[in-house]
Formats: sequence, C-alpha cells, structure tokens
Amino acid sequence: MAKYRRLRGTQDILPGEIEKWLHLESIVRTEMAHFNYKEVRTPVFELTDLFSRGIGQLTDIVTKEMYTFQDRGKRSITLKPEMTAPIIRAYIENAMSAQSPLNKLYYIAPLFRQENPQAGRLRQFHQFGAEALGSPGAEVDFEIILLLLQILDKLGISDLGLQVNSVGDASCRETYKKNLKKYFEPLLDEYCPDCRTRFTTNPMRILDCKNSGCITRNQNAPKITDHLCQACSEHFESLCTLLEQTGIEFTINPRLVRGLDYYTRTVFEINNRHLGSQDALGGGGRYDLLCRQLGGPEVPAVGFAAGIERVLMVYDTLNSEIPAQKGLDIYLIPLGSSAQKSTPIWINKFRAIGLNADQDYLKRSLKAQMREANKQNARLALILGDNEINDHIFAIKEMATGRQEEIPFSEIERYLKKYFNA
Ligand code: HAM
Repeated sequence: MAKYRRLRGTQDILPGEIEKWLHLESIVRTEMAHFNYKEVRTPVFELTDLFSRGIGQLTDIVTKEMYTFQDRGKRSITLKPEMTAPIIRAYIENAMSAQSPLNKLYYIAPLFRQENPQAGRLRQFHQFGAEALGSPGAEVDFEIILLLLQILDKLGISDLGLQVNSVGDASCRETYKKNLKKYFEPLLDEYCPDCRTRFTTNPMRILDCKNSGCITRNQNAPKITDHLCQACSEHFESLCTLLEQTGIEFTINPRLVRGLDYYTRTVFEINNRHLGSQDALGGGGRYDLLCRQLGGPEVPAVGFAAGIERVLMVYDTLNSEIPAQKGLDIYLIPLGSSAQKSTPIWINKFRAIGLNADQDYLKRSLKAQMREANKQNARLALILGDNEINDHIFAIKEMATGRQEEIPFSEIERYLKKYFNA
C-alpha cells in the first residue's frame, strides 16, 4: 500500500478523467464569452475575517467547515470556501467600479470546506461561477440563471429542476422573521436541536432544514413571498415574467433560503435527480448589501456558482462522447545509440512546425516501440536506425494503414508539413 494517500474528501484527476474537465472548462469559457463575462482568478487563501463577515458568522460554512490556520505572522488565514466574497474583495481593492459601472466576471476555481465527504460532497471541490456587479435590475438575475442553464445545456444536461425564491431585503425580511418566530415558538420543542439554535441566530434557516420532522412542521410556516415589500415583490415578478416568457420551467419555492447570509431578493437553485441527496448542481442569487458590508461602495450584484464534480457526475450518466483532443502526430523510434543522440534534435524541429511529437526514451526494442506508438494513437511512426542514419533517411509507417515509405532527411519537414497540413 502507498505510504502517502490523498486526504479524505480530495481527488486526483488523472488522464482519462481530465479530458472531461477540459471539455467542461472549454464550454464554460465559450459560454462566458458569449455572455461577455471576463475571467478573474483570486488567491487560494484570504484573511478569515473576509469570509466570516461576508458569508455570515453563524452559517454552517463559517462555524463548522472552514480550513482556518494561523500563519507565521499570526494572521488568521482561511482557504477559500466560496468565491463571491473574494471576488468582492478584489473588486473593491482594485477599484473596479471606477473603471466600469457594470462588471461581469467569471471564475473556475478550487474551494475548500471541511464537510463530511460523500458522493458529490468533497473537502476540496471546484466551482465555475459568474458574478455581475453594478446593476439592481431583475434582467441581470435572469441573465445569470440563463447563463448557468446554457452551460448545462451545452454539456447535454437537461432534466433540471429550477427553484426560485425571493428572500426580500433588509426591511421586509425583519417583519417576516418576526412572524416566523411567532409561528415557530410554540412548536420549538418539536424541532431538531440545530433548528432550536437557528431560532435565535437566523430563524429563516429553519426553513432549509433537511430533517424530515422539521420539514413536516415547516409546511404551514408563513411564506416570505407573502411578506415582500412592493419593490421586492415587483423585482421578483419581473424575474418570473422573464423566465416565463423564455419558456424556462421553474418552481417558486418559498422555503428556499440557501446557506449563505449575504442574499437579498432573488435566490435560486438548480437540481438534478441523478445526484441523490446532494442534488444541487448550482445556485446563487442577489447580494446587494455585500459590497458595502465588506467596506466598499454600495453596489448591487447577483451571481451563481455550480459544483464541477456534481455537474460531471450527471454528465457521466449521459454516456456522451467527449470531443477528441488532438492526438499525437508523430512517434519517433530511435534504434541504437547514434539515433538516440539525434532524435531529440529532430523532434524539436517537428514540434516547432506545430506537430504533437514524442519519442521513446527507454531504449526499447523496435517491437516494443511500435506497440507504444500504437498505444499513444500516433498517426505516423518515424523509425531511425543505423541504416537510416547512414542513408540519411527516415523509415515512416502510417499507423492506421501500415503503409511504409522512406523520406530523406532533407525532405522530411516539407513532407510532414504537407501530410499534416501544418
Ligand atoms: P453554494 O450553494 O454554497 O453557493 O455552492 C454552489 C455549488 O457548489 C453547490 O450547488 C454545489 O454544486 C457545489 N458545492 C458546494 N459545496 C460542495 C462540496 N463540499 N462538494 C462538492 N460540491 C460542492 C456558493 O458557493 C455561492 N458563492 C454561490 C453564489 C455566487 N451566490 C452568488 N454568487
């Protein structure tokens, strides 16, 4: 058994698997460009305070799941558990609002949460996501949802459930929380211990509890959608109308609150039945107060993030063909020590004309090297032995047909350019 093993909840992504990731990432980049979102990359770690303040002191992520450590300068550092707070930090720090009133940004990034690992729930996982900063309009909420659906559609993933809700803004939420508490108070003993804590910390999170007893008790709880102020209600209606007009199926789930505290107005989640208990492929919403809360200007914003591992789990159930990557053009086969000395020079020339080229470095027999050329799916094998060196030629074998020919050194580059259209 190997002495060192990867930690629980982490994965190695090896050749054979990575092709799917590259395919997904290329679709993400293409669609982000179609919607005019620009990529950003932020550091893997940040000051802990960014997350406790941004995501919410009492959320599960902050209380139970962060990888937090002290660095040598005695600062509290956290491996990022999500991307929205870091994006806002970068937006404020780089004064991006001064450069443009609307910033449409996207990311593909590894994230870290110390959760109980299970299928679709990892400790290091990856998200692709987008954040649109600068507009309060429901049209942007619509664009964000559409963008996520479009990426999933390009991957061939249909069969999706879209749930939307509005969690109101700071004012209408307060009245709602009071009414919720009135409803929960006489029933509190029947709720799970977590919900009893949530009653004082954030009663809306009780609606999100996965405990079957709590779910039943929540059935008759007051609905946020009945408590929205006029502005929030109009905003939510505009979004729903746009979704309807585009023929996007969705359900309004008044109990959808999500696990991060920064949301205002729109929240949404996209689920897929192939995923079992961890069925959320992605989710997001509007967070108009976060930028201010993190010390920046008041900038309305909305975004989404989707879990790449979960999206790929669904993708696996489709048995789709991944578009083939460009394979190996040339496998160079040196036989004998003189050939071994000259093939590195030749291979360099072939790569310089844009070909994918590799060679044997293990001094194997002709038979073993030919087998390798086959395994590597090379289109041509170029054999260079003592005889070929004496005659200044390459013996070439076209792998698919077995056709062989000899080409002089002086002609080889011209020949290959023509053969590969390079
Ligand atoms: P989130 O719901 O915490 O939202 O995560 C988004 C997605 O990331 C989930 O739906 C799931 O697919 C995936 N995910 C989360 N945790 C794990 C895990 N432990 N293992 C595997 N996949 C996971 C956010 O992160 C927000 N920042 C989304 C957002 C962007 N809201 C506004 N803008």
